[in-house]
Amino acid sequence: MPRKLAAGNWKMNGNTEALSMIDALNAAHEAAHVDILICPPAHLLAPARTHADAGPVTLGAQNCHSAAQGAHTGDISAVMLRDAGAKAVIVGHSERREAYSETDADVRAKAQATQAAGLKAIVCLGESLAQREAGDALPVIRSQLAGSVPPDSTAENLVVAYEPIWAIGTGKIPTMDQIAEVHACLRADLVKSLGPAGNDVPLLYGGSVKAANAADIFALPNVDGALVGGASLTAEDFSPIITALNQS
Ligand code: PGA
Repeated sequence: MPRKLAAGNWKMNGNTEALSMIDALNAAHEAAHVDILICPPAHLLAPARTHADAGPVTLGAQNCHSAAQGAHTGDISAVMLRDAGAKAVIVGHSERREAYSETDADVRAKAQATQAAGLKAIVCLGESLAQREAGDALPVIRSQLAGSVPPDSTAENLVVAYEPIWAIGTGKIPTMDQIAEVHACLRADLVKSLGPAGNDVPLLYGGSVKAANAADIFALPNVDGALVGGASLTAEDFSPIITALNQS
């Protein structure tokens, strides 16, 4: 069975004051049997450590360079993020695929660098609205999976997040059948490519996950948690999502 994971992606939001929400999550979910991850902007990782160390919340980053070090002004490596306290790195988020033209090969190189640093790579993929409406969602997602996941990934160093681009930050979500269909397909392809380990890779759904829809989404087969943007910024919004996962 995959481990369950509630992951919060703060994107370019938050400040040192906002880190107190980690204390609130730690207190509220002390006995949680699901993993809880907060991915703040990179400059908050080191100060977040003192908060995270006190309880079940762990820290992750939102992006990394594919090299460990070197002449890459303004970039940050997975090794550096580990040094700052990260246990995981989100790679291939659609906002980065779009804004920085990151290809599947780029995403795979970042995932490999993340895993080589001993961290978990959270590989994101998902179709656009045009692709969904053209009936191409599954082929698009399968091709992103095949191109973005390092072939020697394990259930310990890989998480896959399905995030339809049109559901991110829009308040719209796919039907439960559509989510279940994509996740079943991801599971089957992971088992084909990774063997039995593919059964244990956590599969997250992301895109407008809120307290109001979390329980329904977590009840679906092959949904092992969520990657949450807007609703991960405060304990008030994120905590009920963690509770729903814990009860699923
Ligand atoms: P959202 O973002 O929850 O605000 O829709 C999800 C994500 O982009 O990871």
